[in-house]
Amino acid sequence: MTAGRKQSNYNEICKLGYEQKRMAKQIKSKARVEERGEVFTAEREVNAMLDLVSTECLRPDSRFLEPACGNGNFLVAILMRKLEELRRKYRTAHRDYEKQSIVAIGSLYGVDIMKDNVEECRSRLFKVWDDSYKAICKKDCSDEARESARFILSRNIVCGNALTLNCVDEDGNDLPSLPIVFSEWSMISGTQMQRRDYTFAELLAKDEGQIAFSKEEAEGKFIDRYITHYKKLQPNG
Ligand SMILES: C[S@@+](CC[C@H](N)C(=O)[O-])C[C@H]1O[C@@H](n2cnc3c(N)ncnc32)[C@H](O)[C@@H]1O
Repeated sequence: MTAGRKQSNYNEICKLGYEQKRMAKQIKSKARVEERGEVFTAEREVNAMLDLVSTECLRPDSRFLEPACGNGNFLVAILMRKLEELRRKYRTAHRDYEKQSIVAIGSLYGVDIMKDNVEECRSRLFKVWDDSYKAICKKDCSDEARESARFILSRNIVCGNALTLNCVDEDGNDLPSLPIVFSEWSMISGTQMQRRDYTFAELLAKDEGQIAFSKEEAEGKFIDRYITHYKKLQPNG
């Protein structure tokens, strides 16, 4: 074998190793790929796609739904962009940063049929949110705000079947009596945050495939409504 050929083989092997490492991050197991089509999108592709809607990724209240969110590659990248923009705007205004970062986390929705993906997605989103919160708000951080962020994630990132629109059990089996419900979070005045709950089915039926918590169309159709301080969000409030 010539030196040139040896070098080219070596390069091929390195390239293969790199691709395998990359794939290892994108898949959890062959069985899961076969069973659920689970292949996570790589960072480069995620960012290229988000660049197409870059302005929306900067607004804290611009809503995103990932109906097969996996462990959250898209949602995490969107949250990072939103928080970066908030850090730029509110670096020294801790209360504003805190409030708007809660709005940002409330704007992200995900569904996945695999329980471990849902848990991973929630905890990745929480960590990104909390790391940024600590870096900006330092000693002004509060555990109340952290609990609100966790509560929002527990409602917004749902273990369910995006085809049947129902929640699923630990094995991914449909629970027809438990439809997927999403909460619309909005700041209505000062520190008051409103939560209105809608079934996923209702949101889809209204907008022919597009989700919109549109006030005019949805008014009267929500199944629950609560108004609370943004740092006191909890199951019945
Ligand atoms: C190709 S992966 C994509 C994950 C993520 N969107 C990403 O880009 O990294 C597909 C995901 O869909 C989930 N999935 C498969 N069938 C589903 C269904 N009926 N409802 C909700 N999620 C589903 C799988 O568990 C898997 O995490």
